[in-house]
Amino acid sequence: KEDTPAGAAASKAPKTESEFSKSIRIFYGTQTGTAEIFAKELGDLLKKTFEAKITITDFEDVELDSAQDDLQTPDASLVLCSTYGDGEPPDTCLPFFEWLQKKTEEEEEGLSEMKFGVFALGNTQYEHFNNSGKNLDKFFAKLGAERIIDLGLGDDNEDIEEDFNKWKATVIPALASSGIVKLPGVGVDEASAPDTVVKAYVVETLEGAQGIAFPEVNVSKTKGYDAHNPFKATLSARRELHTSMSERSCLHVEVDLDGSQLSYETGDHLGIFPENDADLVKKMAARLEVDGEMMISVHDPAKSSKGGALKAVGEPNPLGHVGPLSVATALARYCDLLTPLRKPALTALAAFTSDAAQKEELERMAGPDGKTAYADWMMKPYRSVLEVLEAFPTCKPPLGAFFCSVVPRLQVRYYSISSSPRVAPSSPHCTVAVVAGATGTGRMHRGVASTWLGGLEVGKNLQVPAFVRKSSFRLPVDPTVPIVMVGPGTGLAPFRGFIQERMALKAEGAELGPALLFFGCRSKTVDFIYERELHEAEAAGVMRLDVAFSREGGAKVYVQHRIAQRGEEVYKLLKTSSGHFYICGDAKNMAKDVHKALLDLLSAEGGLSGVDAEKYVQEMTASGRYSRDVW
Ligand code: 2AM
Repeated sequence: KEDTPAGAAASKAPKTESEFSKSIRIFYGTQTGTAEIFAKELGDLLKKTFEAKITITDFEDVELDSAQDDLQTPDASLVLCSTYGDGEPPDTCLPFFEWLQKKTEEEEEGLSEMKFGVFALGNTQYEHFNNSGKNLDKFFAKLGAERIIDLGLGDDNEDIEEDFNKWKATVIPALASSGIVKLPGVGVDEASAPDTVVKAYVVETLEGAQGIAFPEVNVSKTKGYDAHNPFKATLSARRELHTSMSERSCLHVEVDLDGSQLSYETGDHLGIFPENDADLVKKMAARLEVDGEMMISVHDPAKSSKGGALKAVGEPNPLGHVGPLSVATALARYCDLLTPLRKPALTALAAFTSDAAQKEELERMAGPDGKTAYADWMMKPYRSVLEVLEAFPTCKPPLGAFFCSVVPRLQVRYYSISSSPRVAPSSPHCTVAVVAGATGTGRMHRGVASTWLGGLEVGKNLQVPAFVRKSSFRLPVDPTVPIVMVGPGTGLAPFRGFIQERMALKAEGAELGPALLFFGCRSKTVDFIYERELHEAEAAGVMRLDVAFSREGGAKVYVQHRIAQRGEEVYKLLKTSSGHFYICGDAKNMAKDVHKALLDLLSAEGGLSGVDAEKYVQEMTASGRYSRDVW
């Protein structure tokens, strides 16, 4: 049996694509899927508006050998790219960014035939707001490309959909006025365009089929295990790091990669594909009125290759196949059931809502006048998809549309590895804060990955799809170079690896330079994680420890206060002895505050002006002496 996709887009184009003389290519780089959604929206709008060949390409699929042509051959290249972490591009775009940066340094006019416009996706709560998009815009221009649309800056802290709509509104006039395409008669008003058709996957039920839990990919034919083909690892150890006095939980976990030939270095990250809570999955299946045990396969009618659909449901796809799998597995592994829905998802839900008032309310919230309602009702209380459906009982989305147009994809989670391969060569350790807290609706929100890791059976084989992501967060090559590490809370993770590394070096007889670790937690008796190990390392002389307790009565003491108190010493280590400075942990507040503390101490101790202190830190960054691993 096949579910009909809810209104497969009727082809109205009188010409076939190959007959179009003009082509517009949309490139996107995405970490969580939003840039991809926007790219498709933009593609749909352009297809409705112009007689031109419109293609959409993930930067991940751009071959570097042909990238220059890919960017220059279309009559216009429109680029959407997100920024995450410490101002970094999405993982999938790293090769492209490296290529582009190198090209910018080497060639002046390498993209002189390109016409472009960039929309950047980011969040103003982070210091390097929209860094990737800004860089793309800058690099293209430097390479001689013509900017035909001004850079758009999307802020997910406010209303990124609105930012995107504003930018989108400038695209059509810009393409028309730069002579790339002609507007058909009068200008096309997007609002008067025909009703959006909800895109859906085809869901086939496969009676009697056997589910394949983890199909084996032939690793010898690939580059080994990676984000597209994670190794099915075993959770080999887990213990609680907080004391019984803590209201929260922080887990030490060890993930056994034995047999994968995966290796890691101190400072790398472990990527893990988590699963949703089984109870939540059951409730979700019930609300969708489907049997969780039902075996299905999922296809994207728009893509010829069968691998496409689940990739889209759960990209990056840990399974690499489209089924057979049970509905429950699809919901558990591929669907983000907890993040609030974006506006286009509400529009899609409206199409399946029978009660007129409910339908109208969904449409209103998703529409241009729904900004406040959407923020207050959806985002602030962090409403989950199940809560949305409970509030709109006559909304009955079919499974294919639910997978394709409603629910976001469940994302891989990255953890800073908290061990050294010298101590744990094939089973990296991670330090996982268990996310739990009540939302505005009173729902107990439990973080997907941390909750899942907390509930897995230890020692059971093949249940944690994992891979190693390389980082540049590294100890100095010369162990005599001084280091200053700042890592409150789980920000301690990579430094635990650094310390293990130094312990091993010392045992081998290496001479070690000074190392100072600033750690912060609430109180000595509650969340001083790895306390014994840290004291042992201190006693062994591989580092000195300075702890800021923030909730031991009196005023809050944070790592940056301790850094300021030790200003003279830190200054000597960094400036006089050319030491390295590392920050790991929260990016929104802590890393900014610590960065400022560093600038302040350079001024206070070295008499540097504000500008010179900034310059000095820039030099440190350029020479690899200032590193951050923040989230
Ligand atoms: P708090 O929760 O008591 O405010 C690890 O999370 C430690 O980092 C906690 O002691 C926490 O303190 C502290 N912390 C919170 N905000 C911080 C900031 N902006 N800079 C440094 N430390 C911070």
